[in-house]
Amino acid sequence: MTRIDTSVDVLLRVNGSARRLRVDTRVTLLDALRDELDLTGTKKGCDQGACGACTVLLDGKRVLSCLTPTAQCDGRDVTTIEGLAPDGRLHPVQEAFIRHDGFQCGYCTTGQIVSAVALLQEGRAGSDEEIREFMSGNLCRCGAYPNIVAAIRDVAGRGTE
Ligand code: FES
Ligand code: FES
Repeated sequence: MTRIDTSVDVLLRVNGSARRLRVDTRVTLLDALRDELDLTGTKKGCDQGACGACTVLLDGKRVLSCLTPTAQCDGRDVTTIEGLAPDGRLHPVQEAFIRHDGFQCGYCTTGQIVSAVALLQEGRAGSDEEIREFMSGNLCRCGAYPNIVAAIRDVAGRGTE
């Protein structure tokens, strides 16, 4: 039986660096990041689009990398949690999560932080209600929600209210 090669060549710009990959068309961006590029900061929770643990930025917009085929990312910019602190200095959102204790086990945290960075860029941090609404795709089994909201509110410049 002839096996059909379903691999494709993909050129990604990941955290500012060009990365060339040859992947099967079924490989998700999440698996490519973790297994091919060794960027394991992006977490696999549900692997079916329900938890937000795998959130990354694609051309500056947040996406669920477990639902994003790598082949569709050819020529595009990907930012992962590692890309938020490229020179070892934490991003203001990362600092705020530490300051406000915005995590417990930490499994959801990288997705929460990447999502929060995008939410702030989208101008969706006008109220706690808005933050909760636009962070609703990022689940936290530890229930760190109040502290996550506090961290985002802080970075948005709305103090501790
Ligand atoms: S791992 Fe992607 S949404 Fe849960
Ligand atoms: S900190 Fe444990 S799942 Fe969110």
